[in-house]
Amino acid sequence: MKHILCIGAGYVGGPTMAVIADRCPDCKVTVVDINADRIAAWNSGTLPIYEPGLEEVVNRCRGRNLFYSTDIPKGIREADIIFVSVNTPTKTFGAGAGRAADLQFLEKTARSIVEYAENDKIVVEKSTLPVRTAQAMSRILHSNTKNLKFQIISNPEFLAEGTAIRDLENPDRVLIGGMETPEGERAVEEIAAIYAHWVPRERIITTNLWSSELTKLVSNALLAQRVSSVNSISALCEKTEANIDEVTAAAGRDSRIGPKFLKASIGFGGSCFKKDILNLVYLCGHYGLPEVAEYWEQVVRMNDFQARRFVGNMLDAMFNTVADKKIAIFGFAFKADTGDTRESPARAVCVQLLEERARLSIHDPKALGNAKIDLADAGGDISYVDDPYEAARGAHAIAVMTEWNCFKELDYKRIFDSMEKPAFIFDGRNILDHEALYEIGFNVYPIGKKKRTHF
Ligand SMILES: NC(=O)c1ccc[n+]([C@@H]2O[C@H](COP(=O)([O-])OP(=O)(O)OC[C@H]3O[C@@H](n4cnc5c(N)ncnc54)[C@H](O)[C@@H]3O)[C@@H](O)[C@H]2O)c1
Repeated sequence: MKHILCIGAGYVGGPTMAVIADRCPDCKVTVVDINADRIAAWNSGTLPIYEPGLEEVVNRCRGRNLFYSTDIPKGIREADIIFVSVNTPTKTFGAGAGRAADLQFLEKTARSIVEYAENDKIVVEKSTLPVRTAQAMSRILHSNTKNLKFQIISNPEFLAEGTAIRDLENPDRVLIGGMETPEGERAVEEIAAIYAHWVPRERIITTNLWSSELTKLVSNALLAQRVSSVNSISALCEKTEANIDEVTAAAGRDSRIGPKFLKASIGFGGSCFKKDILNLVYLCGHYGLPEVAEYWEQVVRMNDFQARRFVGNMLDAMFNTVADKKIAIFGFAFKADTGDTRESPARAVCVQLLEERARLSIHDPKALGNAKIDLADAGGDISYVDDPYEAARGAHAIAVMTEWNCFKELDYKRIFDSMEKPAFIFDGRNILDHEALYEIGFNVYPIGKKKRTHF
Protein backbone atom coordinates (compact mmCIF):
# COMPACT_ATOMS: atom_id res chain seq x y z
CA MET A 1 0.00 0.00 0.00
CA LYS A 2 1.31 3.45 -0.94
CA HIS A 3 1.40 5.89 1.95
CA ILE A 4 0.34 9.37 0.95
CA LEU A 5 0.62 12.26 3.38
CA CYS A 6 -0.86 15.70 2.92
CA ILE A 7 0.44 18.55 5.07
CA GLY A 8 -2.31 21.18 5.37
CA ALA A 9 -5.96 20.22 5.98
CA GLY A 10 -7.60 23.28 4.44
CA TYR A 11 -9.93 23.99 1.53
CA VAL A 12 -7.52 22.22 -0.82
CA GLY A 13 -5.85 19.50 1.27
CA GLY A 14 -9.10 18.28 2.86
CA PRO A 15 -11.25 17.71 -0.25
CA THR A 16 -8.35 16.72 -2.55
CA MET A 17 -7.15 13.97 -0.27
CA ALA A 18 -10.70 12.74 0.37
CA VAL A 19 -11.16 12.22 -3.37
CA ILE A 20 -7.75 10.54 -3.75
CA ALA A 21 -8.60 8.17 -0.88
CA ASP A 22 -12.01 7.49 -2.42
CA ARG A 23 -10.60 6.70 -5.87
CA CYS A 24 -7.42 4.89 -4.74
CA PRO A 25 -8.37 2.15 -2.28
CA ASP A 26 -4.78 0.84 -2.64
CA CYS A 27 -3.42 4.01 -0.99
CA LYS A 28 -3.43 5.00 2.66
CA VAL A 29 -4.00 8.75 2.83
CA THR A 30 -3.24 10.78 5.95
CA VAL A 31 -3.91 14.51 6.25
CA VAL A 32 -2.06 16.41 8.99
CA ASP A 33 -2.25 19.98 10.22
CA ILE A 34 -0.82 22.10 13.02
CA ASN A 35 -4.35 23.34 13.68
CA ALA A 36 -5.74 20.77 16.12
CA ASP A 37 -9.27 22.23 15.99
CA ARG A 38 -9.36 21.79 12.23
CA ILE A 39 -8.24 18.17 12.50
CA ALA A 40 -10.82 17.52 15.23
CA ALA A 41 -13.49 18.95 12.92
CA TRP A 42 -12.35 16.70 10.04
CA ASN A 43 -12.74 13.76 12.44
CA SER A 44 -16.20 14.90 13.60
CA GLY A 45 -19.71 14.96 12.15
CA THR A 46 -19.33 18.67 11.29
CA LEU A 47 -16.55 19.13 8.75
CA PRO A 48 -14.57 22.39 8.97
CA ILE A 49 -15.59 23.52 5.48
CA TYR A 50 -18.81 23.36 3.50
CA GLU A 51 -18.55 21.91 0.02
CA PRO A 52 -21.38 20.09 -1.80
CA GLY A 53 -20.75 16.32 -1.83
CA LEU A 54 -17.72 16.48 0.48
CA GLU A 55 -19.39 14.89 3.49
CA GLU A 56 -20.42 11.83 1.49
CA VAL A 57 -16.88 11.26 0.18
CA VAL A 58 -15.34 11.70 3.64
CA ASN A 59 -17.89 9.37 5.22
CA ARG A 60 -17.06 6.67 2.66
CA CYS A 61 -13.30 6.74 3.32
CA ARG A 62 -12.58 8.09 6.80
CA GLY A 63 -11.20 5.33 9.02
CA ARG A 64 -10.82 3.02 5.96
CA ASN A 65 -7.90 4.57 4.04
CA LEU A 66 -8.35 8.24 4.97
CA PHE A 67 -7.08 9.60 8.27
CA TYR A 68 -6.86 13.09 9.75
CA SER A 69 -4.19 13.61 12.39
CA THR A 70 -2.01 16.12 14.21
CA ASP A 71 0.91 13.68 14.43
CA ILE A 72 3.06 15.32 11.75
CA PRO A 73 6.34 13.45 12.57
CA LYS A 74 4.67 10.03 12.29
CA GLY A 75 2.93 11.08 9.07
CA ILE A 76 6.23 12.15 7.54
CA ARG A 77 8.09 9.01 8.65
CA GLU A 78 5.46 6.69 7.12
CA ALA A 79 4.90 8.56 3.85
CA ASP A 80 6.19 7.61 0.41
CA ILE A 81 4.66 10.71 -1.14
CA ILE A 82 4.07 14.02 0.66
CA PHE A 83 1.67 16.60 -0.75
CA VAL A 84 2.26 20.07 0.69
CA SER A 85 -0.98 22.03 0.76
CA VAL A 86 -0.29 24.77 3.28
CA ASN A 87 -1.47 28.34 2.91
CA THR A 88 0.67 30.78 0.90
CA PRO A 89 -0.94 34.16 1.62
CA THR A 90 0.27 37.55 0.45
CA LYS A 91 3.10 38.88 2.62
CA THR A 92 1.93 41.54 5.04
CA PHE A 93 5.38 42.60 6.24
CA GLY A 94 8.90 43.37 5.06
CA ALA A 95 10.19 43.20 1.50
CA GLY A 96 7.41 42.58 -1.03
CA ALA A 97 4.66 43.26 1.53
CA GLY A 98 1.24 43.39 -0.15
CA ARG A 99 2.44 41.48 -3.22
CA ALA A 100 4.93 38.67 -2.72
CA ALA A 101 3.82 35.28 -1.38
CA ASP A 102 4.51 34.58 2.28
CA LEU A 103 6.38 31.29 2.04
CA GLN A 104 7.09 30.80 5.74
CA PHE A 105 4.51 28.00 6.11
CA LEU A 106 5.92 26.17 3.11
CA GLU A 107 9.46 26.49 4.38
CA LYS A 108 8.44 25.22 7.82
CA THR A 109 6.91 22.10 6.28
CA ALA A 110 10.09 21.51 4.26
CA ARG A 111 12.12 21.76 7.45
CA SER A 112 9.78 19.33 9.24
CA ILE A 113 10.28 16.86 6.39
CA VAL A 114 14.07 17.24 6.73
CA GLU A 115 13.80 16.65 10.49
CA TYR A 116 11.53 13.58 10.50
CA ALA A 117 12.10 11.78 7.19
CA GLU A 118 13.95 8.47 7.41
CA ASN A 119 13.84 7.46 3.73
CA ASP A 120 13.73 9.00 0.23
CA LYS A 121 10.43 10.61 -0.73
CA ILE A 122 8.53 12.43 -3.43
CA VAL A 123 7.45 15.87 -2.24
CA VAL A 124 4.56 17.40 -4.18
CA GLU A 125 3.87 21.14 -4.25
CA LYS A 126 0.06 21.34 -4.14
CA SER A 127 -0.01 24.91 -2.80
CA THR A 128 0.10 27.76 -5.32
CA LEU A 129 3.65 29.08 -5.40
CA PRO A 130 5.88 31.57 -7.17
CA VAL A 131 7.66 30.09 -10.17
CA ARG A 132 11.01 28.53 -9.17
CA THR A 133 9.94 27.78 -5.57
CA ALA A 134 10.82 24.13 -6.19
CA GLN A 135 14.45 25.16 -6.43
CA ALA A 136 14.39 26.59 -2.89
CA MET A 137 12.38 23.60 -1.70
CA SER A 138 14.96 21.22 -3.12
CA ARG A 139 17.84 23.09 -1.47
CA ILE A 140 16.18 22.95 1.95
CA LEU A 141 15.25 19.28 1.62
CA HIS A 142 18.74 18.34 0.42
CA SER A 143 20.33 20.13 3.35
CA ASN A 144 19.53 16.95 5.32
CA THR A 145 22.51 15.16 6.83
CA LYS A 146 20.96 11.70 6.40
CA ASN A 147 21.89 11.46 2.73
CA LEU A 148 18.20 11.31 1.80
CA LYS A 149 17.06 12.09 -1.75
CA PHE A 150 13.85 13.96 -2.55
CA GLN A 151 12.10 14.45 -5.86
CA ILE A 152 10.14 17.69 -6.01
CA ILE A 153 6.98 17.67 -8.11
CA SER A 154 4.66 20.55 -8.90
CA ASN A 155 1.00 19.52 -9.02
CA PRO A 156 -1.05 22.71 -8.61
CA GLU A 157 -4.70 22.43 -7.71
CA PHE A 158 -7.33 23.91 -10.03
CA LEU A 159 -10.47 23.12 -8.04
CA ALA A 160 -12.97 25.92 -7.55
CA GLU A 161 -14.65 26.27 -4.17
CA GLY A 162 -18.35 25.47 -4.33
CA THR A 163 -17.71 22.81 -6.99
CA ALA A 164 -14.57 21.28 -5.46
CA ILE A 165 -15.74 17.67 -5.42
CA ARG A 166 -17.11 17.82 -8.95
CA ASP A 167 -13.88 19.48 -10.14
CA LEU A 168 -11.72 16.88 -8.39
CA GLU A 169 -13.72 13.92 -9.62
CA ASN A 170 -13.91 15.20 -13.18
CA PRO A 171 -11.06 17.67 -13.70
CA ASP A 172 -10.50 19.53 -16.99
CA ARG A 173 -6.86 18.63 -16.54
CA VAL A 174 -4.34 17.50 -13.96
CA LEU A 175 -0.97 19.21 -14.27
CA ILE A 176 2.21 17.52 -13.09
CA GLY A 177 5.61 19.15 -13.45
CA GLY A 178 8.93 17.52 -12.63
CA MET A 179 12.66 17.71 -13.17
CA GLU A 180 13.79 16.70 -16.65
CA THR A 181 15.95 13.85 -15.32
CA PRO A 182 15.26 10.08 -15.26
CA GLU A 183 14.48 10.27 -11.51
CA GLY A 184 12.27 13.33 -12.07
CA GLU A 185 10.39 11.59 -14.88
CA ARG A 186 9.85 8.49 -12.72
CA ALA A 187 8.44 10.68 -9.93
CA VAL A 188 6.09 12.43 -12.39
CA GLU A 189 4.90 9.00 -13.54
CA GLU A 190 4.27 7.92 -9.96
CA ILE A 191 2.05 10.93 -9.29
CA ALA A 192 0.33 10.51 -12.67
CA ALA A 193 -0.44 6.90 -11.73
CA ILE A 194 -2.40 8.09 -8.68
CA TYR A 195 -4.65 10.33 -10.80
CA ALA A 196 -4.90 7.70 -13.53
CA HIS A 197 -7.11 5.71 -11.12
CA TRP A 198 -9.97 7.96 -12.29
CA VAL A 199 -8.70 10.68 -14.66
CA PRO A 200 -8.32 9.78 -18.36
CA ARG A 201 -4.65 9.83 -19.35
CA GLU A 202 -5.15 12.50 -22.01
CA ARG A 203 -6.24 14.92 -19.30
CA ILE A 204 -3.04 14.38 -17.30
CA ILE A 205 -0.56 16.94 -18.59
CA THR A 206 3.11 16.65 -17.72
CA THR A 207 5.54 19.56 -18.05
CA ASN A 208 8.77 20.81 -16.59
CA LEU A 209 8.65 22.11 -13.02
CA TRP A 210 8.72 25.80 -13.84
CA SER A 211 5.95 25.62 -16.46
CA SER A 212 3.75 23.83 -13.95
CA GLU A 213 4.38 26.33 -11.15
CA LEU A 214 3.78 29.27 -13.48
CA THR A 215 0.67 27.77 -15.12
CA LYS A 216 -1.26 27.95 -11.88
CA LEU A 217 -0.57 31.67 -11.47
CA VAL A 218 -1.35 32.29 -15.12
CA SER A 219 -4.64 30.33 -15.00
CA ASN A 220 -5.91 32.40 -12.09
CA ALA A 221 -4.65 35.62 -13.65
CA LEU A 222 -6.48 34.86 -16.92
CA LEU A 223 -9.71 34.01 -15.10
CA ALA A 224 -9.57 37.15 -12.97
CA GLN A 225 -8.69 39.22 -16.02
CA ARG A 226 -11.86 37.98 -17.72
CA VAL A 227 -13.95 39.07 -14.73
CA SER A 228 -12.32 42.51 -14.62
CA SER A 229 -12.66 42.93 -18.39
CA VAL A 230 -16.39 42.24 -18.27
CA ASN A 231 -16.84 44.43 -15.19
CA SER A 232 -15.04 47.33 -16.84
CA ILE A 233 -17.49 47.08 -19.74
CA SER A 234 -20.43 46.86 -17.31
CA ALA A 235 -19.54 50.40 -16.17
CA LEU A 236 -19.70 51.59 -19.78
CA CYS A 237 -23.01 49.77 -20.31
CA GLU A 238 -24.58 51.66 -17.41
CA LYS A 239 -23.63 54.95 -19.09
CA THR A 240 -24.81 54.03 -22.57
CA GLU A 241 -27.90 51.81 -22.08
CA ALA A 242 -26.12 48.87 -23.62
CA ASN A 243 -26.95 45.66 -21.72
CA ILE A 244 -23.95 43.71 -20.41
CA ASP A 245 -25.73 40.34 -20.69
CA GLU A 246 -26.56 40.99 -24.33
CA VAL A 247 -23.03 42.20 -25.04
CA THR A 248 -21.31 39.21 -23.42
CA ALA A 249 -23.77 36.68 -24.87
CA ALA A 250 -23.13 37.98 -28.38
CA ALA A 251 -19.37 38.41 -27.88
CA GLY A 252 -19.11 34.97 -26.26
CA ARG A 253 -20.59 33.32 -29.35
CA ASP A 254 -17.21 33.83 -30.99
CA SER A 255 -15.63 30.42 -30.41
CA ARG A 256 -12.29 32.10 -29.72
CA ILE A 257 -13.88 33.95 -26.79
CA GLY A 258 -16.36 31.35 -25.53
CA PRO A 259 -19.41 31.90 -23.32
CA LYS A 260 -18.08 30.97 -19.87
CA PHE A 261 -16.97 33.25 -17.05
CA LEU A 262 -18.37 36.38 -18.71
CA LYS A 263 -20.86 37.41 -16.03
CA ALA A 264 -20.77 40.95 -14.68
CA SER A 265 -20.77 41.24 -10.89
CA ILE A 266 -19.47 43.25 -7.96
CA GLY A 267 -16.16 41.52 -8.57
CA PHE A 268 -14.10 38.45 -7.86
CA GLY A 269 -13.12 37.29 -4.40
CA GLY A 270 -11.74 34.19 -2.76
CA SER A 271 -8.37 33.51 -1.28
CA CYS A 272 -6.61 32.99 -4.62
CA PHE A 273 -7.29 35.39 -7.50
CA LYS A 274 -6.03 38.58 -5.90
CA LYS A 275 -3.16 36.90 -4.09
CA ASP A 276 -1.99 35.02 -7.17
CA ILE A 277 -2.13 38.06 -9.47
CA LEU A 278 -0.24 40.15 -6.93
CA ASN A 279 2.30 37.38 -6.74
CA LEU A 280 2.61 37.46 -10.54
CA VAL A 281 2.97 41.25 -10.40
CA TYR A 282 5.73 40.89 -7.81
CA LEU A 283 7.55 38.26 -9.85
CA CYS A 284 7.43 40.41 -13.00
CA GLY A 285 8.88 43.32 -11.01
CA HIS A 286 11.53 41.03 -9.55
CA TYR A 287 12.56 39.84 -13.01
CA GLY A 288 12.78 43.42 -14.34
CA LEU A 289 9.50 43.49 -16.28
CA PRO A 290 7.67 46.55 -14.89
CA GLU A 291 5.38 46.91 -17.94
CA VAL A 292 4.17 43.33 -17.54
CA ALA A 293 3.69 43.89 -13.80
CA GLU A 294 1.60 46.99 -14.42
CA TYR A 295 -0.53 45.23 -17.00
CA TRP A 296 -1.60 42.55 -14.53
CA GLU A 297 -1.93 44.87 -11.56
CA GLN A 298 -4.69 46.70 -13.42
CA VAL A 299 -6.86 43.56 -13.11
CA VAL A 300 -6.85 43.94 -9.31
CA ARG A 301 -7.39 47.70 -9.50
CA MET A 302 -10.43 47.22 -11.74
CA ASN A 303 -11.85 44.75 -9.20
CA ASP A 304 -11.48 47.26 -6.35
CA PHE A 305 -13.03 49.94 -8.55
CA GLN A 306 -16.09 47.79 -9.23
CA ALA A 307 -16.90 47.45 -5.50
CA ARG A 308 -16.40 51.20 -4.97
CA ARG A 309 -18.54 51.94 -8.00
CA PHE A 310 -21.29 49.70 -6.63
CA VAL A 311 -21.40 51.62 -3.35
CA GLY A 312 -21.24 54.90 -5.29
CA ASN A 313 -24.32 53.82 -7.28
CA MET A 314 -26.12 52.98 -4.03
CA LEU A 315 -25.38 56.41 -2.61
CA ASP A 316 -26.44 58.20 -5.80
CA ALA A 317 -29.71 56.28 -5.91
CA MET A 318 -30.51 56.74 -2.22
CA PHE A 319 -30.40 60.53 -2.28
CA ASN A 320 -26.68 60.75 -1.43
CA THR A 321 -26.98 59.37 2.06
CA VAL A 322 -27.33 55.98 3.70
CA ALA A 323 -26.59 57.28 7.20
CA ASP A 324 -28.84 55.59 9.74
CA LYS A 325 -30.61 53.65 6.99
CA LYS A 326 -30.96 49.91 7.43
CA ILE A 327 -29.51 48.00 4.47
CA ALA A 328 -30.00 44.26 4.07
CA ILE A 329 -26.93 42.48 2.72
CA PHE A 330 -27.93 39.27 0.93
CA GLY A 331 -24.87 37.04 0.87
CA PHE A 332 -21.40 37.44 2.33
CA ALA A 333 -19.58 34.40 0.88
CA PHE A 334 -17.32 35.28 -2.04
CA LYS A 335 -19.39 32.97 -4.25
CA ALA A 336 -22.35 30.62 -3.96
CA ASP A 337 -22.15 27.14 -2.38
CA THR A 338 -19.31 27.96 -0.04
CA GLY A 339 -19.03 29.44 3.44
CA ASP A 340 -15.66 30.94 2.50
CA THR A 341 -15.53 34.72 2.77
CA ARG A 342 -11.84 35.32 2.14
CA GLU A 343 -11.42 38.48 0.01
CA SER A 344 -15.17 38.56 -0.55
CA PRO A 345 -16.22 41.78 -2.30
CA ALA A 346 -19.11 41.79 0.20
CA ARG A 347 -16.65 42.82 2.86
CA ALA A 348 -15.40 45.81 0.87
CA VAL A 349 -18.97 46.89 0.19
CA CYS A 350 -20.00 46.48 3.86
CA VAL A 351 -16.99 48.44 5.13
CA GLN A 352 -17.76 51.33 2.77
CA LEU A 353 -21.43 51.33 3.77
CA LEU A 354 -20.44 51.34 7.45
CA GLU A 355 -18.16 54.32 6.78
CA GLU A 356 -21.28 56.02 5.41
CA ARG A 357 -22.93 55.10 8.74
CA ALA A 358 -25.47 52.69 7.29
CA ARG A 359 -26.96 50.05 9.60
CA LEU A 360 -26.28 46.61 8.13
CA SER A 361 -28.33 43.49 8.47
CA ILE A 362 -26.37 40.62 6.94
CA HIS A 363 -27.86 37.33 5.83
CA ASP A 364 -26.01 34.38 4.27
CA PRO A 365 -27.04 30.71 4.31
CA LYS A 366 -23.51 29.42 5.07
CA ALA A 367 -21.15 32.28 5.78
CA LEU A 368 -22.52 34.21 8.76
CA GLY A 369 -19.87 32.80 11.12
CA ASN A 370 -17.05 33.95 8.86
CA ALA A 371 -18.80 37.28 8.22
CA LYS A 372 -18.79 37.99 11.96
CA ILE A 373 -15.05 37.30 12.12
CA ASP A 374 -14.32 39.41 9.03
CA LEU A 375 -16.25 42.42 10.31
CA ALA A 376 -15.23 42.10 13.97
CA ASP A 377 -13.06 45.21 13.75
CA ALA A 378 -15.26 47.18 11.38
CA GLY A 379 -17.31 48.91 14.10
CA GLY A 380 -20.74 50.35 13.37
CA ASP A 381 -24.21 48.89 13.58
CA ILE A 382 -24.24 45.32 12.20
CA SER A 383 -26.61 42.46 12.84
CA TYR A 384 -26.23 38.91 11.52
CA VAL A 385 -29.56 37.37 10.65
CA ASP A 386 -30.45 33.77 9.78
CA ASP A 387 -33.78 34.65 8.17
CA PRO A 388 -33.67 36.73 4.95
CA TYR A 389 -37.18 38.12 5.57
CA GLU A 390 -36.10 39.34 8.99
CA ALA A 391 -32.92 40.84 7.49
CA ALA A 392 -34.96 42.88 5.03
CA ARG A 393 -37.73 43.98 7.42
CA GLY A 394 -37.66 47.77 7.78
CA ALA A 395 -34.69 48.11 5.39
CA HIS A 396 -34.40 50.88 2.82
CA ALA A 397 -32.41 48.70 0.46
CA ILE A 398 -31.25 45.17 -0.30
CA ALA A 399 -27.77 44.61 -1.73
CA VAL A 400 -27.23 41.17 -3.30
CA MET A 401 -23.60 40.20 -2.83
CA THR A 402 -23.55 36.45 -3.50
CA GLU A 403 -25.27 34.46 -6.26
CA TRP A 404 -26.96 31.96 -3.90
CA ASN A 405 -29.84 30.18 -5.69
CA CYS A 406 -32.04 30.56 -2.61
CA PHE A 407 -32.14 34.33 -3.13
CA LYS A 408 -33.97 33.79 -6.42
CA GLU A 409 -36.74 31.88 -4.69
CA LEU A 410 -37.69 34.40 -2.00
CA ASP A 411 -41.13 36.00 -1.84
CA TYR A 412 -40.14 39.52 -2.87
CA LYS A 413 -43.70 40.85 -2.57
CA ARG A 414 -43.63 39.91 1.12
CA ILE A 415 -40.18 41.48 1.44
CA PHE A 416 -41.26 44.68 -0.34
CA ASP A 417 -44.28 45.06 1.94
CA SER A 418 -42.04 44.93 5.03
CA MET A 419 -39.49 47.50 3.79
CA GLU A 420 -39.23 51.30 4.02
CA LYS A 421 -40.32 53.11 0.87
CA PRO A 422 -39.02 53.86 -1.64
CA ALA A 423 -37.49 50.37 -1.56
CA PHE A 424 -34.28 49.69 -3.48
CA ILE A 425 -32.62 46.50 -4.71
CA PHE A 426 -29.00 46.60 -5.88
CA ASP A 427 -28.33 43.27 -7.55
CA GLY A 428 -24.56 42.86 -7.43
CA ARG A 429 -24.80 39.47 -9.15
CA ASN A 430 -27.57 40.05 -11.70
CA ILE A 431 -29.40 36.95 -10.48
CA LEU A 432 -32.88 38.29 -9.73
CA ASP A 433 -35.84 38.84 -12.03
CA HIS A 434 -35.50 42.59 -12.38
CA GLU A 435 -38.71 43.15 -14.31
CA ALA A 436 -40.76 41.26 -11.72
CA LEU A 437 -39.13 43.23 -8.89
CA TYR A 438 -39.91 46.48 -10.66
CA GLU A 439 -43.53 45.40 -11.07
CA ILE A 440 -43.73 44.73 -7.33
CA GLY A 441 -42.62 48.31 -6.69
CA PHE A 442 -38.87 48.06 -6.14
CA ASN A 443 -36.39 50.47 -7.67
CA VAL A 444 -33.97 48.03 -9.25
CA TYR A 445 -30.28 48.60 -9.93
CA PRO A 446 -28.55 45.74 -11.76
CA ILE A 447 -24.91 45.71 -12.86
CA GLY A 448 -24.25 46.81 -16.43
CA LYS A 449 -27.93 47.20 -17.29
CA LYS A 450 -30.51 49.92 -17.28
CA LYS A 451 -31.90 50.69 -13.83
CA ARG A 452 -35.68 50.35 -13.38
CA THR A 453 -37.06 53.09 -11.14
CA HIS A 454 -40.43 54.51 -10.27
CA PHE A 455 -39.26 58.12 -10.24
N1 LIG B 1 -8.87 27.57 -1.68
C1 LIG B 1 -8.84 27.31 -2.97
O1 LIG B 1 -9.87 27.32 -3.66
C2 LIG B 1 -7.55 26.96 -3.66
C3 LIG B 1 -7.59 26.41 -4.95
C4 LIG B 1 -6.39 26.08 -5.56
C5 LIG B 1 -5.20 26.28 -4.91
N2 LIG B 1 -5.18 26.83 -3.65
C6 LIG B 1 -3.88 26.98 -3.00
O2 LIG B 1 -3.71 25.89 -2.10
C7 LIG B 1 -2.99 26.31 -0.93
C8 LIG B 1 -3.81 26.02 0.32
O3 LIG B 1 -5.01 26.77 0.24
P1 LIG B 1 -6.21 26.52 1.25
O4 LIG B 1 -7.34 27.36 0.76
O5 LIG B 1 -6.41 25.05 1.44
O6 LIG B 1 -5.57 27.14 2.58
P2 LIG B 1 -6.09 26.94 4.08
O7 LIG B 1 -5.61 28.11 4.84
O8 LIG B 1 -7.55 26.59 4.08
O9 LIG B 1 -5.32 25.62 4.57
C9 LIG B 1 -3.96 25.57 4.81
C10 LIG B 1 -3.73 24.72 6.05
O10 LIG B 1 -2.33 24.50 6.20
C11 LIG B 1 -2.05 24.44 7.58
N3 LIG B 1 -0.62 24.66 7.86
C12 LIG B 1 0.09 25.80 7.73
N4 LIG B 1 1.37 25.58 8.08
C13 LIG B 1 1.49 24.28 8.42
C14 LIG B 1 2.56 23.46 8.86
N5 LIG B 1 3.79 23.95 8.98
N6 LIG B 1 2.31 22.16 9.13
C15 LIG B 1 1.06 21.66 8.99
N7 LIG B 1 -0.02 22.38 8.58
C16 LIG B 1 0.20 23.68 8.28
C17 LIG B 1 -2.94 25.51 8.18
O11 LIG B 1 -3.14 25.31 9.56
C18 LIG B 1 -4.22 25.35 7.34
O12 LIG B 1 -5.16 24.51 7.97
C19 LIG B 1 -2.69 27.79 -1.14
O13 LIG B 1 -1.40 27.91 -1.69
C20 LIG B 1 -3.74 28.22 -2.15
O14 LIG B 1 -3.29 29.30 -2.92
C21 LIG B 1 -6.33 27.14 -3.01
